[in-house]
Amino acid sequence: MIVDRQGRRFRNLRISLTAACNYACTYCVPNGKRLVAAQDELSAETMARAVAYLIEAAGIERLRITGGEPLVSPRLDPFLHSVSRLGLADISLTSNGQLLSRKLPLLLECGIRRLNISLDTLDAEGFRRIARGGDLATVLQGLAEAKAAGLKIKLNMVPLRGHNLDQVLPLLDYALEQGFELRFIELMRMGHLARDGNTFSQQFVGIDELLETIGSRYTYIQADAPVDSTALRYRIPGLGHFGVIANESVPFCRTCSRLRLSSTGWLYGCLSSSNCHFIGDLLDKPRHVALPALQRLLVKALADKQEVAFSGGVMVMKIIGG
Ligand code: 5AD
Repeated sequence: MIVDRQGRRFRNLRISLTAACNYACTYCVPNGKRLVAAQDELSAETMARAVAYLIEAAGIERLRITGGEPLVSPRLDPFLHSVSRLGLADISLTSNGQLLSRKLPLLLECGIRRLNISLDTLDAEGFRRIARGGDLATVLQGLAEAKAAGLKIKLNMVPLRGHNLDQVLPLLDYALEQGFELRFIELMRMGHLARDGNTFSQQFVGIDELLETIGSRYTYIQADAPVDSTALRYRIPGLGHFGVIANESVPFCRTCSRLRLSSTGWLYGCLSSSNCHFIGDLLDKPRHVALPALQRLLVKALADKQEVAFSGGVMVMKIIGG
């Protein structure tokens, strides 16, 4: 097992199935242009082999499939069928929900039980302004169907001053009513926001302000969260839970157990490091050749983790996912 001085190891793997996305959210892409798939994205079979090798080489226990937007990828079906046979403790998926209705049978068939769906507003007009793609009613319909099918759902909201702060309480009301756990994600200095400090500062909303807003309607108490969770969790007695991923205000790097793989075969040990390690060429090699080489790269990737706090990076969330 590869462990660093702070006792951290890789336990959770996040795979970006594709860089392509059917939205163009303002905080993700500055120019409103939707991202397309990279030309050299790995095949579904190679990606599944990456997961199998990383289970052995790094001790990965849980997999999250991200993007881009994973549901737009034609590789979703073969990839899910393959990784669902690898004996992972958990496979979950982060999506914007636009194609959820359509892909639900596949997700259920492959044993997906948990989804994180991005939802920044319940206002159809505001939705179009932020996401610059998709349609709110379609997402809500997908959520209703996924709930009816028994999936456990978390919602991700990025509060942005000047855009959707008036949606904090409506989204929380909705999430509590539906039995979804809403997680507020403090804006991160990713991509263009890493370079454009002004936009970041204008739009950033911190946990204190959020909790004050929530406290104006609900009584909440701190609740337990797994040690390596990035979210602070709160319970609203009798109604449900919500969380805050406060990467700026309450850094969580000390317990980070995440490893990320891009759709083109690059490993990232840290979301705010621009270091990455190419493994695409190792994945065609037999196990006895690939595993030692992977382990050497994993040592480097683990050393890329920040000690305490996320500092941001131009390496973009949009490409390697949340
Ligand atoms: N800051 C905070 N959250 C972000 N996300 C994407 N970019 C950023 C950013 N710069 C969110 C998405 C998605 C989750 C995986 O990360 O909205 O819900």
